[in-house]
Amino acid sequence: MPVMLSEVLDILEPCVPKERDSYFVDGTLGGGGHAEAILEKFSNVKVVGFDMDKNARDMAGSRLSEYKDRLRIVPRNFSALGDLADELSSEMGGYSCGVMFDLGVSNMQLSTPERGFSFQEDGPLDMRMDEDADIPTAADILKNSDIPELARIFREYGEERHAFRIAGAIVRARNEGKVSDTTGELTALIRRSLPAPVQRRMGGHPARRIFQALRIAVNSELESIPDGLGGAYDITGDGGAIIVIAYHSLEDRIIKQTFQRWAQDGRGSMKTRRPMVPTDEEIEKNRKSRSAKLRAFIVHKPETENA
Ligand SMILES: C[S@@+](CC[C@H](N)C(=O)[O-])C[C@H]1O[C@@H](n2cnc3c(N)ncnc32)[C@H](O)[C@@H]1O
Repeated sequence: MPVMLSEVLDILEPCVPKERDSYFVDGTLGGGGHAEAILEKFSNVKVVGFDMDKNARDMAGSRLSEYKDRLRIVPRNFSALGDLADELSSEMGGYSCGVMFDLGVSNMQLSTPERGFSFQEDGPLDMRMDEDADIPTAADILKNSDIPELARIFREYGEERHAFRIAGAIVRARNEGKVSDTTGELTALIRRSLPAPVQRRMGGHPARRIFQALRIAVNSELESIPDGLGGAYDITGDGGAIIVIAYHSLEDRIIKQTFQRWAQDGRGSMKTRRPMVPTDEEIEKNRKSRSAKLRAFIVHKPETENA
């Protein structure tokens, strides 16, 4: 079930013009859950779905095959949104009623061991969302970074208090010829590096923050967000919505600060001052949703700027 789906649809409802066609950009198509509900509910809306992951695009393409006349799938990072704004606007026909980003990894990525995203499944330490991208994998980062660099990644992207200790254990093991290039090896090494009482106090799996940090580093996730938001603003028409669901405070901080700055500059207004969170009922049904924070911005543009 897509996270906070009814909230997304409720925010979008007043933004979709009844009297003319419009298009919506899903910057993180994933399995196509949000896109499917939008295509189903708004019959005069076309959807452009971005995803860097080929498996996600294939999965969404077949799930949404009945809507293929109203769907365009773009195999790009959503940071390219701004560069494609003119092309999309002429191809999709003018007015964009909004853009959404449901950030991070999908259930499909997490539950495929060969992708290396999960500390609960054993597989190669890859973690690239775009498997064709010529970028370092998580194993490459562990192999080639020194202790200060690894500790920085773990602290900055994982907010891990024991960053230095874990980085030290990884580099010492590497110097002894024990390379961590599977998720199982890394998880075991993290466990060995932390005394049992520390692990008990961590609240959650001891490898959780390190895996998050590596994933963010491999995919330059935080760097994509400002460009994605800028592109979303360029594309969205007057009265349209930019909706973002974030799963950790690093992402949420960037979104909150961007929306606050835009509001001060008169570029529109925040839908709610505080982020929306899932209901207890949704959290019970879908554990992944428990850390979700949804923020939405309603765009205001003078007429000349409008598509
Ligand atoms: C949480 S899932 C989205 C799930 C989707 N909303 C659904 O209902 O099925 C996030 C997806 O966004 C993709 N993704 C993450 N960051 C991206 C980026 N910067 N550019 C393009 N795709 C990205 C991931 O590959 C993943 O498939």
